[in-house]
Amino acid sequence: MADKATLRVWRGTKDKPGEFQEFEVETYPGMVVLDAIHDVQATQDPNLAVRWNCKAGRCGSCSAEINGRPRLLCMTRMSHFEPGEPITVTPMKSFPLIRDLVTDISHNYRMAKKIPPFKPRPREADGTWRMQQHDIDRIQEFRKCIECFLCQDVCHVLRDHDKHESFAGPRFMIQLANLDMHPLDTVDRRPMIKDTFGIGYCNITRCCTEVCPENITITDNGIIPLKERIADDFYDPVKWLLRKVMGTKKKKSLPVVQEAGSKKSEAPKAKKKEPADAEE
Ligand code: SF4
Ligand code: SF4
Ligand code: FES
Repeated sequence: MADKATLRVWRGTKDKPGEFQEFEVETYPGMVVLDAIHDVQATQDPNLAVRWNCKAGRCGSCSAEINGRPRLLCMTRMSHFEPGEPITVTPMKSFPLIRDLVTDISHNYRMAKKIPPFKPRPREADGTWRMQQHDIDRIQEFRKCIECFLCQDVCHVLRDHDKHESFAGPRFMIQLANLDMHPLDTVDRRPMIKDTFGIGYCNITRCCTEVCPENITITDNGIIPLKERIADDFYDPVKWLLRKVMGTKKKKSLPVVQEAGSKKSEAPKAKKKEPADAEE
């Protein structure tokens, strides 16, 4: 006989107070929580609302909270839970509820629009761009983000203090880190990182890093180096004065590594290394 599991699923809409509803589902090897939700939709209540697309941990749509922890429904196996243990499924708490397990995440897209886009420096004289491999390696992990917003959901600044308008949140901090550390980018976003995106609100609890399904080291590799750069630029008196006198900071350009036999091109001037870079 097939094993059974009990799901306690949050039901409600933005206009009506919600409540938990229990469903019993038959389990099978390899079943994930999203399968169980689909089983409920197919056999018990077709009105249960859930957002999903890929069922492969790639689209970031099926974010919810399972037993109070932000998780992807499609990447959480039913076998992860003790037999007989009720599995509680609730919508992400940091975003307004639309219905059942579906929340309104449009705030994130509005925040994304505020970030000035990537603007590369001109190409080298031979028509190419060259970058140091370690600069590429450093930002590569930030590009794995699937925009599930689980990190935004768990961050207490957004979740408990509702600072959605003052703090961009961890997902956008890594996007800003990705741009700030990009060796080709020329835009100085640091005043915005400090003021508009409110990096000072982050107190490095690392909860965002713990829930990221892509294992991006959001805090240590993204937010902390950004904080160090902001501290250098705005709270180091010499750099602060330079910024006042010289205006916005031009981003560093790395020296071009000349390949053997290639035509000599003009190397951009290297600037003094920043402390965060020097750690490597
Ligand atoms: S480390 Fe910062 S961004 Fe991440 S959850 Fe904590 S306060 Fe939020
Ligand atoms: S950083 Fe991780 S947790 Fe945050 S949105 Fe991207 S993939 Fe999801
Ligand atoms: S359905 Fe795409 S990540 Fe879960």
